[in-house]
Amino acid sequence: MNTSQGSLPSDFTVRPGEVTVDLPEAPDAGVYFIGRIHTPWTERKSCPKNPAGSDAVCTIELEERYVPGLKEVETCSHLVLLYWMDRAPRNLVRQVPGHYGVQRGTFALRSPARPNPIAMSVVKLLGIDGNKLSVVGLDCLDGTPLLDIKPYFASIDSVPNAKVGWREQG
Ligand SMILES: C[S@@+](CC[C@H](N)C(=O)[O-])C[C@H]1O[C@@H](n2cnc3c(N)ncnc32)[C@H](O)[C@@H]1O
Repeated sequence: MNTSQGSLPSDFTVRPGEVTVDLPEAPDAGVYFIGRIHTPWTERKSCPKNPAGSDAVCTIELEERYVPGLKEVETCSHLVLLYWMDRAPRNLVRQVPGHYGVQRGTFALRSPARPNPIAMSVVKLLGIDGNKLSVVGLDCLDGTPLLDIKPYFASIDSVPNAKVGWREQG
């Protein structure tokens, strides 16, 4: 584990109490970005911390080659979107989020900074026009790459009594 600042995107710094690691020399797999997410936010400070923080309408611009994959997506009220936090560092294993001020493990947090900076949100689908999907429920910067779109199944994905203990303790 390292406690010094490695090479990080300029908008992120290692805060006191945070811990970084050396990443492997090469990734184990590659991904295809299937589109881009257009949102009103260009800076992290104005971006919502989670999807509940905004009712802004955002646009998913899917690459044309993947449009056939949208068949019957219009029947879904809600979708799970997976996206790539392209401006986040990947080497933090302990973090001190500014809004909590307490050190926690990366895998106990929804921070964008993680070895694979994959984020997720359940969004409300407003409509589809060609390769563009209008959705509500995002918390990412304009231009964030899209990894995947899946139907949200309330019967499978909803766990109403799930807990995050540290959040309940304050
Ligand atoms: C706390 S994360 C939550 C992401 C997602 N809803 C999740 O739970 O996986 C949201 C924050 O990530 C940051 N962020 C948004 N888009 C980003 C991007 N493309 N690269 C790096 N950080 C980003 C912003 O500070 C935003 O407030």
